[in-house]
Amino acid sequence: MLFTIILIFVSFISYKIYQKLRVPEGLKNVPTLSFLELVLFMLSKDGPDKRWENTRKVCEKEGIGKLWFNGEWHIVTTNLELIKDLMAKTDLYPKSSLEESSPGSLAAQYYGTNLVWKRHRRITNPAFKSLPMHVFDDSAVKLLKVIEKVDNEPIEVNGLMHRLTLDVLGRAAFGFDFNNLEDPTNIYVTTYHEVTAECDNPIYFLFPFIEYLPYFDRTEARKKVAKLNDLFNRIIETKRESMKTGELSKKIENNSADLLECMINASNDPKNYMSDEEMRHNLAIFMLAGHDTTATALSTILYVLASKKDLQRKVRDEILHVLGDNLTPTIEQQRELKYMTMVINENLRLYPPVHQLPRRENAEIIKFRNHVFLPKTPIFINIYGIHHSPGNWKDPEEFIPERFENEHEKRDHHTWLTFGGGTRSCIGTNFSLIEQRVMLCALLRKYEISLPADSIHKDKLHLRRANGSITGLHPIDLIFKRTE
Ligand code: HEM
Repeated sequence: MLFTIILIFVSFISYKIYQKLRVPEGLKNVPTLSFLELVLFMLSKDGPDKRWENTRKVCEKEGIGKLWFNGEWHIVTTNLELIKDLMAKTDLYPKSSLEESSPGSLAAQYYGTNLVWKRHRRITNPAFKSLPMHVFDDSAVKLLKVIEKVDNEPIEVNGLMHRLTLDVLGRAAFGFDFNNLEDPTNIYVTTYHEVTAECDNPIYFLFPFIEYLPYFDRTEARKKVAKLNDLFNRIIETKRESMKTGELSKKIENNSADLLECMINASNDPKNYMSDEEMRHNLAIFMLAGHDTTATALSTILYVLASKKDLQRKVRDEILHVLGDNLTPTIEQQRELKYMTMVINENLRLYPPVHQLPRRENAEIIKFRNHVFLPKTPIFINIYGIHHSPGNWKDPEEFIPERFENEHEKRDHHTWLTFGGGTRSCIGTNFSLIEQRVMLCALLRKYEISLPADSIHKDKLHLRRANGSITGLHPIDLIFKRTE
């Protein structure tokens, strides 16, 4: 009897495992990416460049590979034909929310269902139309003050750029000054880093079921999420109060409202209603999407400028020509910084701060070439691969800003997916580009930037994995020497 029960139990478990591992018929001809290599990558300090080295052979065959993890087969693609479809048909390929893909997880508790498609986008879009230029300008001045203190000595710029962009984001998004440039150990900032690091713990990413076991329920991390949520709740409450006193309406009228105030104002209209919880989740995603990404972009571009002195000179000459005596550019002057914009775009191509687009799932059965994707097949777009493929870019490893000179002429715009594409692309594109131009103007006007002779990045910039699909960097020391 006991033997029969054990036999039934073992057969049941084996069948369940077989079901999880079995390749769906329609994906049989899709080349396979190694799960073991994914595990090694997740546990290593390697960056998307190394991951691309491992996956390019498979991806470059016809631009799609299949990868098994977390009990299901995923598609990873660099195929432009498929990507065009994914970008254009947001209803057919919706982004999956964390609450659907990992219900009850720590990440779902913190990020929730942010930017609920269309409704939230409609409410937040206007907030991104009138950006608070004074926040960018003030922060540039603060940044210069920090650099002044270490004039002509190496300073680690990746950490510095994270502190800068977090301050900018906090003030612009919800009127909260983390003051992280001056106070690197600010309690909210350290809690935030602990929470995002926990959300990104590779063990829980590779084996998410662990989180549902009693001993591994991450009690401590959940307390930290609660602490951040508490901060967000208090900020939202104060803003809602200011709505009652009429203070918020004045700010809206004179264009000095932050993103949260714009959301609260818009959600006053019943058809745009957004609950406090939804607002909090949006703030959490703004904080992640809006500061880590731009910090990476600024760090890599400073590295490029430090290692290519001719290029640095050319960007500085343009700044001096366009800005005259100004430290930071007006919106009109930003449009004239054409060479700088080309350098920014090329930097974002070579070192895309997000190396893989968030997961999509097809709502219906899809036939692609001789493959069939069953509904709800997870699909990832590999931005790093697209940006580094010789089929899309001549000499993809070279830094050539001139590629972007006649931007609208010849290039298929799906070959540059830094901010995603289509209607579901990054809402903060302009925010980030303005922030980058303002910081570069202030820094290059005052300083010549160099790479120390013993830099670990002397021959090549060393990337590493960071939160989610964000590209991280090993520490980059640079020297800032005053020019005036
Ligand atoms: C260099 C800087 C940045 C890069 C490279 C970047 C990149 C991206 C990418 C690739 C996506 C996904 C798009 C897609 O799925 O098609 C995204 C989404 C998003 N980004 Fe950015 N981003 C940057 C800066 C910002 C900033 C400054 C903010 C906010 C202030 C922001 C807020 C968001 C939000 C809220 C989403 C989700 C949009 C949605 O799901 O509808 N990003 N970003």
